[in-house]
Amino acid sequence: MGVGHRSVTSGLLVSLEGLDGVGKTTQIARLKEWLEGQVAEVMTVREPGGTALGEALREVVLHRAEAGSAIAEFLVFAAARAELIETVVLPVLSRQGAVLMDRFIDSSVAYQAFGRGLDPQTILEINAIVTQGRTPNLTIWLKGEPFPSGEADRLEQRDQEYFRRVESGYAWLADREPERWLILESRQDPDVIFDAICRRIDIVLQGMKGGE
Ligand SMILES: Nc1ncnc2c1ncn2[C@@H]1O[C@H](COP(=O)(O)OP(=O)(O)O)[C@@H](O)[C@H]1O
Ligand SMILES: [Mg+2]
Repeated sequence: MGVGHRSVTSGLLVSLEGLDGVGKTTQIARLKEWLEGQVAEVMTVREPGGTALGEALREVVLHRAEAGSAIAEFLVFAAARAELIETVVLPVLSRQGAVLMDRFIDSSVAYQAFGRGLDPQTILEINAIVTQGRTPNLTIWLKGEPFPSGEADRLEQRDQEYFRRVESGYAWLADREPERWLILESRQDPDVIFDAICRRIDIVLQGMKGGE
């Protein structure tokens, strides 16, 4: 542990969730800067990606060969996730670092299960295997409508229905493990959201110190 840095036993793993355009990447960038003053090593990751295999798989599913099967698509994401967790995330955590995930295990349940109809239990089980059981210390759900963009304005009714199902997936997950989740309304001042996130992470970090 470096001088002036807090000890984070077994590392700090934080994920941000919510629909596209609700402010996840914005908050992660600020959070990274804030944590860098407190924790020796801070990494941000985006899925799929973050490893050579993950980036190659990302290129395949996003640009070369879109999966027709929802389970095939999930398993490709799962393979990328397994590689990322084992070769990047767990090593940073074992050095008492912090990892900030821009979407993680809960996106698979919200989008692939609630959004696209896969069985949530299957997704939970495969997630547990690929993450080797490591769950986030804190998951922040920026709940609500995305900020308007040209794209969002063109959304059809059918898409609205899909997004409602995805949000119901997040609600289902948060109900199962309320202590892991911080739910914040997305449509508020970014400074207010950021303050709430920092206050909660302070509590998580204090709890870790207490647990040593
Ligand atoms: N709290 C906020 N209030 C207003 N606009 C925001 C807020 N948070 C993010 N934005 C803007 O909304 C857009 C989407 O934010 P972004 O962080 O990229 O979302 P995500 O990563 O969840 O897709 C960006 O243009 C960003 O500047
Ligand atoms: Mg983003």
